This record gives sequence, structure tokens and C-alpha cells, in this order.
Amino acid sequence: MSMQKPVKRRTAPEILARKGATPIVSTTAYSAITARLVDPIVDFMLVGDSLAMVEHGMASTLGVGLDLMVAHGRAVVSATVSSLVVVDMPFGSYEASPEEAFRSASRLMAETGCGAVKLEGGVHMAETIAFLVSRGIPVMAHVGLTPQAVNALGGFRSQGHDEATREKILGDAVAISEAGAFAVVVEGVVEPLADEITRTIPIPTIGIGASAACDGQVLVLEDMLGLTERVPRFVKRYAALGDAITEAVQTYADEVRERRFPSTDHVYKARG
Ligand code: KIV
Repeated sequence: MSMQKPVKRRTAPEILARKGATPIVSTTAYSAITARLVDPIVDFMLVGDSLAMVEHGMASTLGVGLDLMVAHGRAVVSATVSSLVVVDMPFGSYEASPEEAFRSASRLMAETGCGAVKLEGGVHMAETIAFLVSRGIPVMAHVGLTPQAVNALGGFRSQGHDEATREKILGDAVAISEAGAFAVVVEGVVEPLADEITRTIPIPTIGIGASAACDGQVLVLEDMLGLTERVPRFVKRYAALGDAITEAVQTYADEVRERRFPSTDHVYKARG
């Protein structure tokens, strides 16, 4: 008899239906070990391309390709049973045409088993979003501070400080919503703009550095757990796991260096 928990995941339509209701909870997840712990608690998990920096020590998200997203996405899906898993489409895998986006998104879905993909961009990605959605691929959009455009934006800076950028970002949010995205990540925008977007579009806004005006929040798990060295100012740390790991490994190292290895007698005796 199998002891595995039955798989019953939240779906993209269920997340869409949460607009204006109970706030939507999300963290990133890149590996089986963390995904399994987070799965019973969150509504959806994002296999974000931020894994470039957090897991692979890269300087930005631009160096990630489809193979890496497939590997991490597969690990997260295999370790989870209840949350919707959304996998980021990496830079260069979807921008050239809706057809290219379909090839990449369908590969991500087929090879990982995820329930949706996320891509960055607003007005200029609306046609692609409509193309994917009409072919059965649930799409989460991402507007405001879009890290894949870091070079064009001139750095990781909060957005929406002047009327022109506010109007542009609001226009982006309206366009992706009309194109059929089921939710949108709104990253690094000033609170009045997050509030206006949330009140204007009929799909949930998932904020990251975008205030409680949004319909939910996503945080990079390692940031909120105190595992990463530097975090954006808006991140609240809920634990100090980095310090806990250092302390545990130091204790282990001290014991080994002093030859205080635990006896194996009782372990092997117990097995008979
Ligand atoms: O890659 C990522 O972790 C993301 C979040 C910042 C939303 O896209």
C-alpha cells in the first residue's frame, strides 16, 4: 500500500477566483527539500528565475536557460502535492514570437508537470499571453520592476515614481489582464500605483515590494528565512536560518576536530 499523500493541487482558475478575497500567499521554491516544507502552507509556489542569484551565484537572472528551469521545476513538482507550481520562463525563451513562447512554455509544462508559467512584460507581451492562454497554458504576468529588463531599467530600482511610468505600468497591467493572464506579479512599485492597479484590473495582483494594497504577496524564500546575505529593504526576515546553519556546522566541526565522533555501537545493536 502506498503511503504517498494524494496529489490535489490548487489551480490557476482557483487563484484567479481569489481576486479581492482572502490574500494569496506565495514563496519561491527551487528545490525538493524546501518545496516539501512550504507546500502545505502556501497557495502557489514560484520556481522563479531568481534561482540564478540565490542558488547559482549569478549576478542577474539573465544567465538562466530552459534546461535549468526544467530541472528545478521538476524537483519542486515532485516534492509537492497541494500548491499550484508556477515556473518562470527564462530570458530569451519567449520574447521573439508567440510561437517561440509556446514551444518554451509547453516544454516547461510537459517536462516539469507545473500548472502555469510566468513571464515578464506588459503591453508588448499581451499578444503572446493571449496566444499561450488560447492554447491551454495558464500565464501569470509580471509588471513593474521586471528583473529580466535590468539593463534597460538601469538597475533594480523601484518603479512608478512619476506620472509617465505610473501610466505605463498601469497600461501594462490592463493589457496583460485583457490578454487573459490569471494573475500578475507586481514588483517594486510605489504603494499608490499598486493600489490603483489592484482596483483597476479583475485579476489578482501578487506584490513583491508593492505593499499590502495587492491581493497577495510572494517573497523569495531564502530572503525571508535569513539565508541570503543581502535582501531588499522591503523584505521582513521571519527566521535567521543562515546563523542557525553556521552555528550547527561550527559545533559539528569542533566535535570532529576533537575526535568526539558519536559511538555507532547503539545504532548497529538496535538493528540486531
Ligand atoms: O524570480 C523570482 O523570484 C520572481 C519573483 C521576484 C516574483 O520573479
